[in-house]
Amino acid sequence: MVSDAQMEFRALRGTEDVFGAAIQEWTLVEARARQVAHRFGYTEVRTPLIEEAQLFSRSVGDTTDIVQKEMYVFADRGGRSIALRPEGTASLVRAYVEHELFKTEGLVKWFSIGPMFRAERPQAGRRRQFHQLGVEAIGATHPLLDAELMALAMTLLQACEITNTRLCLNNVGCRQDRERSSAALRQQLTSHRAELCKDCQARLTRNVFRTLDCKRESCRRLVQRLHVTLTRCAECEQHHQAVLAALRAIGIACEEDATMVRGLDYYTKTVFELRHAVLGAQDALGAGGRYDNLVQDLGGPARGASGFALGLERLLLVRQTLRGKPAAASQEWNRHRHVAVLALDDATQQEAFCVVQQLRHAGIAATMDFAGRSLKAQLRSANKTGAPLAVLFGAQERAQGTVTLKIMTDGTQVEVPRAEVVRAIQARVGPS
Ligand code: HAM
Repeated sequence: MVSDAQMEFRALRGTEDVFGAAIQEWTLVEARARQVAHRFGYTEVRTPLIEEAQLFSRSVGDTTDIVQKEMYVFADRGGRSIALRPEGTASLVRAYVEHELFKTEGLVKWFSIGPMFRAERPQAGRRRQFHQLGVEAIGATHPLLDAELMALAMTLLQACEITNTRLCLNNVGCRQDRERSSAALRQQLTSHRAELCKDCQARLTRNVFRTLDCKRESCRRLVQRLHVTLTRCAECEQHHQAVLAALRAIGIACEEDATMVRGLDYYTKTVFELRHAVLGAQDALGAGGRYDNLVQDLGGPARGASGFALGLERLLLVRQTLRGKPAAASQEWNRHRHVAVLALDDATQQEAFCVVQQLRHAGIAATMDFAGRSLKAQLRSANKTGAPLAVLFGAQERAQGTVTLKIMTDGTQVEVPRAEVVRAIQARVGPS
């Protein structure tokens, strides 16, 4: 262990190292996410972690908190303004437009797993580097697609043994509706200007919608008191009703939340959040919605699109709270049941090393000790990690051209010729 005084480097605030039992939870959740996404017809995509900063100001919105306060932006060596991606939707739409998939694909159904970066104040469930599972369907305006995405999100949460998620839903209308709603809201809030926080006072003129997701309690209370309602044209209302009917038809309960607008500018029509009581103040496990103008805003043709993202740290937090701490790492590691190859003296180490390699080539998990520990200590570790077999190399074996196989479960030992060792082990344990 290094003492505090010596420790020069630590992970940055709001970032973390994942290992041991935690990494197994991560890989399990990611595997289930991939399984469920594939079942719904979504394929995986990976996009760069860095993008032109403008991509996000144009899509997420240059007056949003994400872009104004939270985005990590830096000038690269060529003086270009680069952002660490704060979210994934803009990148996926950029990729869709860049590769002109609208020419060849009717509907692109993509999912992506990876880190996002936001310079927020770290707290439980809020990190500066966090991970999202993002799911996006680009190329259709149908309301059933919104319901499919919500069904996917709920199925995935169930697959991760997360129960009691609340699905909250709204429809913020099309762009014209949003303009009408903004004008009405501006009028309503202007007479209460003094009660708004400084940011919201600025938002009144720049982007009044953003006052609806202000995190300050006083602004939230004011919005509640004023009974703000959003305008919806007939088509958007019809879309909303169709989404509600589809959810009912497949048995997914949802709650309508008439003032939910979400903190990103690209949304049109459907918006939703998946909330969980376990998370307390940061109760959104995930969120999403429709963004019918974004493809066009980023230089593509008019194509509808819809999607959502789950926060994986939050998902894991809820999973752990509901299920208890995951099993210890070493027990999980046992599943591979590594054969332990034990060199009993320096002279046999290289030979043991060769056998470890041969076993691995034969598809058998095998490990050896590199610390020069005693036979007793090595056997103790082999036991602890659940090794089915130990292979002992010592002076006596070397002299006889054999090795000793020790069956760990009952302690019995057999001598096998050196040349037969892989076959003998294969016969006992089979491939890992
Ligand atoms: P978002 O609401 O900004 O939406 O983020 C989605 C989820 O990411 C949140 O519900 C939360 O679980 C997680 N999350 C966000 N910020 C943090 C943080 N600092 N620490 C930990 N977890 C966090 C989006 O990003 C949209 N791109 C979602 C979307 C996809 N809409 C359409 N398609």
